[in-house]
This record gives sequence, C-alpha cells and structure tokens, in this order.
Amino acid sequence: MLVSPSLLAADFTNLYRDIELINNSRASALHLDVMDGVFVPNISFGFSVMEQIAKICKKDLDVHLMIVNPERYISRVRDLGATYMTVHLEACQTHIHRTVQQIKESGMKPGIAINPGTPVSWLSDVVEDADMILIMSVNPGFGGQKFIEHSTTKVKQLREILKSAGSNAIIQVDGGINDTTGKIIAEAGADMLVAGSYVFKAANPINAIDLLADI
Ligand code: DX5
Ligand code: ZN
Repeated sequence: MLVSPSLLAADFTNLYRDIELINNSRASALHLDVMDGVFVPNISFGFSVMEQIAKICKKDLDVHLMIVNPERYISRVRDLGATYMTVHLEACQTHIHRTVQQIKESGMKPGIAINPGTPVSWLSDVVEDADMILIMSVNPGFGGQKFIEHSTTKVKQLREILKSAGSNAIIQVDGGINDTTGKIIAEAGADMLVAGSYVFKAANPINAIDLLADI
C-alpha cells in the first residue's frame, strides 16, 4: 500500500524533525494540505512554507489544494518540484478538463479530488486524463475527523469507472485513515492512503506508517 502522511498533523515547532522522520520511513510521498478559507472553512499554509519544506523533503510532494481557482497556481506548484498536484472537482468544475491538461503539460501528475457529497459518476469524462483520483473520506478542512463509511462504496464504484475507461489512475483516500479504516478501504480498491493524525499523533509514527504500508 502506498502511504502519503499528511503534514497537517505534524508538530510545526519541530517541522525539520517530522520531515526527517518521513524521509526515513516507508512513506512514498508527503501530503501537503493547502486551505484558503474560502473553499474550506480553514486556512493552513501556503507557498512560503512549502518552498522551505521542498528543500528538505526527499519524498514525492503530493500537494492537495483545497482552494478556489487552483489553476492560478500551477506554475508555483510545479516550481516546488511537486509530483502530484490535486485540485478539487468542485473548485474548478467548469474547466476541470483544461486544468488537468495544464497540470500535465507543466510536468506534474494531475489529481482530481471529490468531496464526500460529490458522486463519483461526475468523474467519468475526466478519469482517463488524471493520474490520481482522491476520494475524500471526511469533509475537507480539518484533520482528526471520523472516516465516512460510504467512502468504501465510492471507491468500489470508482474502480469500475477506471476499469471501463481503461484508466491507470491511482485511487487515493484521505480522511480518518488508520490501520482499521485503511484495511477496509484497501479492500474496496484504494491504492494510496493519506493519514495525518494516525501517523503524527502516534507514539511511534514509523511504526504507524509501517502498519499502513503493510496493508
Ligand atoms: C483534510 C485533509 C487531510 C487531513 C487528514 O481536509 O485533506 O489530508 O490532514 O487528516 P486525518 O488523517 O487526521 O483525518
Ligand atoms: Zn488532504
């Protein structure tokens, strides 16, 4: 199982230590949650912080933009050296196709995220262009929330849609992931788990990452 720990739950007074911990773990990526206070009712961090993080992080950067009009920041995310740039379908619905193409042209892997209330069927016409689909298993904006059970059904439905579209996009799931919910969602067809609190609030974060990676 691919694991992308969410830095949102890290200790920001010990950021170097926490990023080094990820560098020395089996995580395949580092998940960075950007919130603008408009698309979601919370504000996290922005480019000045991510630019510093990018200098010391040895894992793939997995940037999850919970912001309106994310297409304005494609070149800024690219300049970070990010591998994945994920935008919300709900935040750029009118031109999601164009935005995905632009992310791809900039050299990054485009990800499309959907909120718990958004049907997976709305992705049908864009899945073949995406490298990753992110199923939100909590309402975005905060760490430490409870996993929404219905996400399992959505992952199963998405698996079918990807198959019939011939898409190799990976399925990422984000929100309320721990070793129990991780197993359930892996069985439904998830490829990559994002986990914030479960990793960074654990007594032994390396062990928590190992447990997810071994699913
Ligand atoms: C929520 C963010 C998540 C969050 C997950 O809006 O997208 O990445 O950090 O946190 P946990 O794993 O604590 O639910
Ligand atoms: Zn996230």
